[in-house]
Amino acid sequence: MLPQQDLVAATESVQSAAQDAPRTIEVVAKRFTFEPSRIEVREGERVRLVLKSADGVHGVEIKKFKVNKRIPHGGETVTIEFVADAPGQFPILCSEFCGNDHDEMKGMLVVEAKAPQ
Ligand code: CUA
Repeated sequence: MLPQQDLVAATESVQSAAQDAPRTIEVVAKRFTFEPSRIEVREGERVRLVLKSADGVHGVEIKKFKVNKRIPHGGETVTIEFVADAPGQFPILCSEFCGNDHDEMKGMLVVEAKAPQ
């Protein structure tokens, strides 16, 4: 049997591993939307976006979290990870010209503030 202290340590490491698992969200980019267009996460959460295009080339940009990546045509996935370390609402923009309504292609990342301790 493990001494009591080791049991506590083992339990804690399991819990922190679970907390560190990123929140994975699959996003489809297509003229001229992101689906889902609204993504909600918690402050401090590690976020993994798995993006693909349903048509041509698009891009994904979230300035606040220094995200900016090209999404190729053909459905190849692009994975981005970042920590949502600030609460608020942050636009998700398409960063590659993709047609007439490129400027209208937007989503929203909503980062819910951590509950006060
Ligand atoms: Cu999609 Cu620009």
